[in-house]
Amino acid sequence: MTAAGRRRPYGVVTRGTTNPNRLRRVDNWIVATCGDLLRAATDPLVVDLGYGATPVTAVELRARLAAGARRDVRLVGLEIDPERVAAAAPAADPPGLTFARGGFELAGLRPVLVRAFNVLRQYDESEVAGAWRTMTAALAPGGVLVEGTCDELGRLCGWLLIDADGPRSLTLAARLATLESPAELAERLPKALIHRNVPGERVHDLIRALDDAWRDAAAYATFGPRQRWLHAVGSLKEGGWPLLDRPARWRLGELTVPWPTVAPR
Ligand SMILES: C[S@@+](CC[C@H](N)C(=O)[O-])C[C@H]1O[C@@H](n2cnc3c(N)ncnc32)[C@H](O)[C@@H]1O
Repeated sequence: MTAAGRRRPYGVVTRGTTNPNRLRRVDNWIVATCGDLLRAATDPLVVDLGYGATPVTAVELRARLAAGARRDVRLVGLEIDPERVAAAAPAADPPGLTFARGGFELAGLRPVLVRAFNVLRQYDESEVAGAWRTMTAALAPGGVLVEGTCDELGRLCGWLLIDADGPRSLTLAARLATLESPAELAERLPKALIHRNVPGERVHDLIRALDDAWRDAAAYATFGPRQRWLHAVGSLKEGGWPLLDRPARWRLGELTVPWPTVAPR
């Protein structure tokens, strides 16, 4: 273990709530969006930070990355709660999947990718920037952090892509079959934005514009929620929102915008 790895893990133990398949939307996005980064890495090391009471979502991320990006990926699940590290041990499959104790300092590891999901949600908003800085400082050169939040079943999600220079983008993703209105996504914004869904803030403008577009696209509901979403997102683009992704991703119930379009004022 390195000197950094011997330091006290940075962070606090929080609720360990998790669920199988809860993080499928962000995992599939990571495979599609960060797959090239992982394939180009000298060391294909990925950290799942804060995997919770059971390591099920870490096991799933490793399997999705191995199948969709790089077979020799090495995933380390880090947890700040030592009991959860011990409980995860039977699920280890070294060298591709291991578990260890660690916090935002990443236990001395230098991963090319970190997924931290439903971790910062239980911290104070004022702690977010410091946690991001600590995690991104530990990344391998060119590495990225994917930090976000979702509901218990992974039907409503929001995440940020962050690198050493700060956040790059916000992605919203929903299970369209059960989505009543895009305003529901506001409850699952990443911690840095969840308190900013108020008039005068950009992320509020985005959610309102998406909600209006969804309402205007009501007629397309006859052809299914996917068609309705495609038209709603398409009209956002026509309205000048600088979307970063293409209709192939919109079809999955996603939408990605550059960080400056939603950053807190
Ligand atoms: C709600 S669970 C999330 C589990 C899983 N990632 C998911 O989304 O289903 C949050 C977990 O993060 C852990 N945690 C909180 N702060 C942490 C930190 N700084 N470093 C590592 N783990 C942390 C908590 O102990 C808890 O087990």
